[in-house]
Amino acid sequence: MLDDVLEGLAGRQKTLPSRLLYDARGSDLFEDITALPEYYPTRTETAILTAAAPDLSRRIGEGAVLVEYGAGASVKTRILLDALEALAGYVPIDVSEDMLAKTKPLLQQDYPELPIHPVVGNFLVPPPLPDIDPRARRVGFFPGSTIGNLDDADIETFLAGAAEELGPDGLLVLGVDLKKSPDILIPAYDDAQGVTADFNRNLLVRINRELGADFDLDAFRHEARWNEADSRMEMHLVSLADQSVTIGGKRFDFAAGETIHTENSRKFDLDELDAVLAAGAWSREATYTDPGQLFSVLLLGRA
Ligand code: TRP
Repeated sequence: MLDDVLEGLAGRQKTLPSRLLYDARGSDLFEDITALPEYYPTRTETAILTAAAPDLSRRIGEGAVLVEYGAGASVKTRILLDALEALAGYVPIDVSEDMLAKTKPLLQQDYPELPIHPVVGNFLVPPPLPDIDPRARRVGFFPGSTIGNLDDADIETFLAGAAEELGPDGLLVLGVDLKKSPDILIPAYDDAQGVTADFNRNLLVRINRELGADFDLDAFRHEARWNEADSRMEMHLVSLADQSVTIGGKRFDFAAGETIHTENSRKFDLDELDAVLAAGAWSREATYTDPGQLFSVLLLGRA
């Protein structure tokens, strides 16, 4: 973690690894974001999944194993757990051990027959799947448009890794946020209550706590920018003054107005996405969307 942080801050455009957003506090704040009135993705994806569930269930068939990449609190998962028939298992993968530990008993209570095998890890390097029936069809679940938080190289790595792990008859249920007006996008990433700002700044809180850094939390402000050329929302932390910060014995200088780029959230055009999917050995078998075309859920099979 220290090496990644030092490397990110050493560049001309300072960056921090976005996976560090999701410690226990960050995971809780993100759950709060998903309930914000401005944050349309979760609500919209939930509605799409609910409407698509019977069709997904029919296409997936009985006795599958569901593997979720970046499971968080497994909230949307419940729509699939309710709809899919005779599931052979559920494998939530998440970097937050805390979140997995908190979620498992809650899920088990509601799905007493379901074998649940949480795996702590970064889904980009798919950790080995626990011991489950090798004959069961494997279905990946990657909701929340988390694919939009990855760069091109990581998308390719993820899609190829998932293809390998899910096998030749594997399927992938993918949530993809669609390109739309910045008038909708910017508030979704900079809400009136400031929850998103707290989520972003929590990165600095975590680095202070875990790496003994001395970031002045009041000296950085959250900013959400629309980058049209790259079709993405960018999250930054803007230094409010000329200042310096010390981490692991190294000093980093910030000019007033200079930013740390903390996350990207790409917004897709489905035609463009098809090419990316094809390169990763997947193709669209079904496409579900909402009436406003804000978000989409795709069922992918192996190309
Ligand atoms: N996967 C979420 C998204 O791209 C992550 C996210 C939502 C996020 N709000 C954020 C990341 C604010 C950083 C800052 O929509």
